[in-house]
Amino acid sequence: MASQTEIADNVIEIVQSALEYYGEKEEELIPILAKVNRDLGFLPQEALEKISGVLKIPKSKVKSVASFYHMFSTKPLGRHVIKFCENAPCHVAGGREVWNALQEATDLQAGETSADGKWSLLTTSCLGLCAVGPVMTIDGDVFGNLTADMIPDILNRYE
Ligand code: FES
Repeated sequence: MASQTEIADNVIEIVQSALEYYGEKEEELIPILAKVNRDLGFLPQEALEKISGVLKIPKSKVKSVASFYHMFSTKPLGRHVIKFCENAPCHVAGGREVWNALQEATDLQAGETSADGKWSLLTTSCLGLCAVGPVMTIDGDVFGNLTADMIPDILNRYE
């Protein structure tokens, strides 16, 4: 993920490259947002404004799309991003206790990033791994069959 300074330097360039890749068409809004989010780690305001201007979509609509989907973030994320599956199969497999343990261990609520920039705690919809629920990912590493007492050890693996 890019640092804040790099983001400031690169944001327009990255938006431009997403616009060129998908074309300057309104129906490509979501793929464009996804590419920029992937490349920058989040969707800064400047990016949303630029996309709104080029695609001629009202800023309010671009912002509401950017904040609606779990896969997008409009705020910079922490160095490590936890995504916890919040759907029913994981929930009934004990997800509530694991989620509580995650909140306690990170001292965060859903959608928050720690003040030291280490953790972001996000929820996600089904990851397609319901058979091994509860499930979470950290920076793309997958953890299944979770129990609350596994959480401190797992988090300790990340600096
Ligand atoms: S419901 Fe959690 S992975 Fe499918």
